[in-house]
Amino acid sequence: MLPVAIHKRVYIITVCIITLLMILFAVTTIRSVEQLYRDKEAQELMTMAAVLGQRLPPSVGKVLSTPEFSIMPEHERRAALERDCQPVLDEMTATHPGYSMGYYFDSLKVIAVAPVRSNVSGSNISYPSLTDYVPRVLTVPYIENDESWDRQPRFTLTYPLLADGNRVGHVWVSVKMENIEKQVRRNAGWQIAGVWILWSILLLLMRSIFNKMDKTLALLAQEIQEGSEHPDGINQFPQLIPVLNTVTALRANLQSELQKKERMDQEIARLDRMQLISQMAAGVAHEIRNPMTVVMGFVQMMAQKAEEKAKTNFAIIMDELKRVNEIISDFLSLARNKDFERRKQQLNEIISSLHPLIYTDTVKQGLDFVLQLEEPLPEVYVDGKEIKQLILNLTRNAIEAMGEEKGMLMLKTSHNKGQVELCISDTGCGISQDMLDKVFDPFFTTKAEGTGLGLAVCKNIVEHHHGTMQVQSMQGQGTTFLIRFPAAK
Ligand SMILES: Nc1ncnc2c1ncn2[C@@H]1O[C@H](COP(=O)(O)OP(=O)(O)O)[C@@H](O)[C@H]1O
Ligand SMILES: [Mg+2]
Repeated sequence: MLPVAIHKRVYIITVCIITLLMILFAVTTIRSVEQLYRDKEAQELMTMAAVLGQRLPPSVGKVLSTPEFSIMPEHERRAALERDCQPVLDEMTATHPGYSMGYYFDSLKVIAVAPVRSNVSGSNISYPSLTDYVPRVLTVPYIENDESWDRQPRFTLTYPLLADGNRVGHVWVSVKMENIEKQVRRNAGWQIAGVWILWSILLLLMRSIFNKMDKTLALLAQEIQEGSEHPDGINQFPQLIPVLNTVTALRANLQSELQKKERMDQEIARLDRMQLISQMAAGVAHEIRNPMTVVMGFVQMMAQKAEEKAKTNFAIIMDELKRVNEIISDFLSLARNKDFERRKQQLNEIISSLHPLIYTDTVKQGLDFVLQLEEPLPEVYVDGKEIKQLILNLTRNAIEAMGEEKGMLMLKTSHNKGQVELCISDTGCGISQDMLDKVFDPFFTTKAEGTGLGLAVCKNIVEHHHGTMQVQSMQGQGTTFLIRFPAAK
């Protein structure tokens, strides 16, 4: 089963509570309306009974008590009473339709009834149940379950009748319960309808509030999931701000870890390639170098003895052999197990020793050469030969990048936070952004005659000296290589 969100549970519980309250309200409303109408009816019955009592014709007293009447036959006395009382009842029922009422006299057992006329002048009373009123003279209305009247419960009130201060009987007034109930139903119906309309509005309102909450939450969750740091709905749920901050921090961590991993994977792949090249270099270079030395020796010998016009050919052969030799040297310097002869020395001194060579190369191509060596510079713990190769590889690349055009090669040293910096920059063709990552790969070259080993060797040398190497370049504007070595302690 799917878990139900807390706000949905709150919604369901609130709806149930409100519904229960509404039902309770409806029930109490019906009760109180019913009570109200009964009270109203009781008041009415009481008033009518009092009026009937007051309107009792004075002749009734005489009929009941004077000696001349007492000698009259009983049925005549009854007829006399009915004759006097019936008009009062008729008049009352005419102005109060829906009510029934009557007079009862204890001594003569005479009853006058309205709106239906009784046959009281005879010996039989048409409504036997009315005799039940005799023992119960109640000034408080009660419900009469009348079996014989018209089989419908009635709301009835009986009230004592007095003649000359003596109780002679009672008057009764009643109304059908059905009449009261009709009014209750009509009145309570409106009230309950109002309550239910209110209930529906409340329900719709709550539904829209909870729906909005639901949507905002869902949107918020989606935005957090998609990595938004300032999602729209967050201010409506301030309790979630710490959660969002944690998620953002975790995501940033994950991102940087992933980037680190990617860089490490690239580095491992590069090292793998270097390892392979190292093994090849170690194996092949040695095997080639010895016969190469012999070949170069013989070529030199033959060149000395050769005729003048063949000498240029020998010179070309020698140049090419030197190039092959250089490639072999590059291969060898990629071999990782190569021993370094490191010692503490001044980087500026190594650069100064190369100055004439670099200067000649730049002058040959009509380039400017700027040298800015910071003094004093901390010493570095390096292999001088390797650093020379590093500098020559980089300056050679810089000169090649500037080609025949006018340009400037600059070599700068400085130091910063325990590190000695070497900066080699040119105003050459530059490197495109998509190639920046590849230039250190072995065999990557854009030159027809290039080997693609120069920068791979440089990186190797820098790493063996626990240094770092960065490249910045703008296509068509120039390139800068920045190398940092830890200062010697
Ligand atoms: N200073 C530079 N300016 C422009 N491109 C350069 C520079 N240095 C290196 N490169 C690019 O990096 C590539 C690799 O250089 P490198 O490893 O020295 O091999 P090679 O010089 O034999 O091509 C070059 O072919 C060139 O495209
Ligand atoms: Mg090169």
